[in-house]
Amino acid sequence: MRIDILTLFPESFAPLNESILKRAQESGKLEINLVNIRDFSKDKHKKCDDYTFGGGAGMLMSVQPIFDAYKSVEKENSYPVFASPSGETLSPKLAKELSKKEHLVFICGHYEGVDARMNELIKPKEISIGDYVLTGGELPTMVIIDCLARFIEGVITADSLNEESFANDMLEYPQYTRPQVFEGLSVPEVLVSGNHQEIAKWRKEQALKKTKENRPDLIKKN
Ligand SMILES: C[S@@+](CC[C@H](N)C(=O)[O-])C[C@H]1O[C@@H](n2cnc3c(N)ncnc32)[C@H](O)[C@@H]1O
Repeated sequence: MRIDILTLFPESFAPLNESILKRAQESGKLEINLVNIRDFSKDKHKKCDDYTFGGGAGMLMSVQPIFDAYKSVEKENSYPVFASPSGETLSPKLAKELSKKEHLVFICGHYEGVDARMNELIKPKEISIGDYVLTGGELPTMVIIDCLARFIEGVITADSLNEESFANDMLEYPQYTRPQVFEGLSVPEVLVSGNHQEIAKWRKEQALKKTKENRPDLIKKN
């Protein structure tokens, strides 16, 4: 999959070059390209924002540099995404759908947001990462990319995905690694019993307990 990210702050994306996402890029499963929207500004001072018509606090990103930046990477199979508080909330289902696309183009808003004509011209899928407002679309875009990349075949193991929180409208059961005893706390006996049936039963019970305690709303979905 190829991902182009249109942003005024390309330096913000360093975290995409670490750990699992770094390996996904090195193995060719993912190709990420950063596009600086400012390079496309036709303003003589390379300005990319302006005051809002009708008044209001703060500056708004202008449509022209974003539109031209988008056109510079657009292909037949491009799927534009706009990180926005007005969008559909990110979910595993949505991330899975995105992971099947061949070419994603992310548009990062900043300041007060983006001139509404961008939506009319580019028609991006608007995606929110939650009901709160951040200063820019850079962090939400990284969150969405990190989430969808886990569904690209071979980026992580299929087992990791199936057993994970939200996979079956449940949270994940508690997990432990060595040492077996730490500060007087022991790993539950069943996990070192070697009895796989009992381990599976214990994990299911623990997942249900945790979900009931922390996220009862998920249980109601079942
Ligand atoms: C300060 S916000 C603009 C908020 C806008 N004035 C509003 O009330 O909806 C600047 C940019 O951050 C991004 N952003 C902020 N919160 C977000 C969220 N919860 N999900 C996705 N993107 C978000 C969007 O790209 C947005 O254009």
